[in-house]
Amino acid sequence: MSGRPDPGGVAAAVAADADAIARAVEVLGAGGLLGLPTETVYGLAADASNPAAIARMFAAKGRPADHPVIVHLASAAQLDDWARDIPDVARRLAAAFWPGPLTLILKRAPHVLNAVTGGQDTVGLRVPSHPVAHAVLAAFGGGVAAPSANKFGRVSATTAAHVREEFGAAVDLVLDGGASQVGIESTIVACDLGGVRVLRPGRITRDMLATVADFDDRGSTAVPRVSGSLEKHYAPRHRVAMLPASELAQAIACHAGNVAVLSRKRPAGKNLRHWAAAIDAEGFAHSLYATLREMDCAGCDLLLVETPPVGAAWEAVHDRLRRAVAGSGAASDEAR
Ligand code: TXA
Ligand code: MG
Repeated sequence: MSGRPDPGGVAAAVAADADAIARAVEVLGAGGLLGLPTETVYGLAADASNPAAIARMFAAKGRPADHPVIVHLASAAQLDDWARDIPDVARRLAAAFWPGPLTLILKRAPHVLNAVTGGQDTVGLRVPSHPVAHAVLAAFGGGVAAPSANKFGRVSATTAAHVREEFGAAVDLVLDGGASQVGIESTIVACDLGGVRVLRPGRITRDMLATVADFDDRGSTAVPRVSGSLEKHYAPRHRVAMLPASELAQAIACHAGNVAVLSRKRPAGKNLRHWAAAIDAEGFAHSLYATLREMDCAGCDLLLVETPPVGAAWEAVHDRLRRAVAGSGAASDEAR
């Protein structure tokens, strides 16, 4: 094993060599919980066919039982094992964007556990591109349920260290696959209601999807439940506000305590710690969650984020920031 000794009951992250991947498969087979690196964010992974393992996963996350989780597969060839009545458009999307940061919502195959689907008639499926996730999925062979490896409502984990901090001994093994490249969760596209709709924006943008599929965003009363679509989500513990660059200095001056600021240029003010914002959407998304975690632990009681540019490429970043603002701070804990 390449893993470091466990310092105190907390699962150490192990470099994802062949031994570690074999151990990860054992953990999944034994109904355990695995910290799994993917290209989007780290997942808290469990055998999607094992009800006890899924129950443990929900308990560790503190997630309500009626929120469905995504099933991860090694290859699109397994689609028909997990879904039924698959429309052509879903197959085209899978061919174009898998392996990669896209989740398809499809009608579920009969064997898929209610605990996985939140009792709905649909299942979310994704084939990740991260080589470690792929190696684990290919060696395991079955479906792996994996929500983002964060406590419900909190900021997602993009490093193995985040997963350890978040779950400690509640996770049996954390594979270290480096910092997640994309940095925000997959784009979710519903293909179960005729036509396709984006339920959660991500790195695969509407423009990219439109090269393969016509999609209809007029909405529907039958919108499936998506916890990432709750208005309060991805939230740091301290209050977060989003402001244009021109208003940052005044907001800092008006605040009595220390302020953590994420902006392109360092604003004026003495009571601040500054993080430089990436100028491109991909770079911003890549470091967003890790930066929010650092800002939250920097001894500042207010987090200010300069409003990013608008445009298709920035849609997912705006989506996550808006929810982080809505869910942040002590006041919203009562509502969570
Ligand atoms: O990038 C990702 O998607 C990451 C990595 C680990 O793959 N996973 C992730 O899982 O973000 P989670 O559970 O944090 O968010 C998945 C979202 C949830 O909001 C859930 O409600 C939605 O997918 N979802 C899963 N199955 C669904 C279904 N059958 N119908 C509608 N929404 C579904
Ligand atoms: Mg999540």
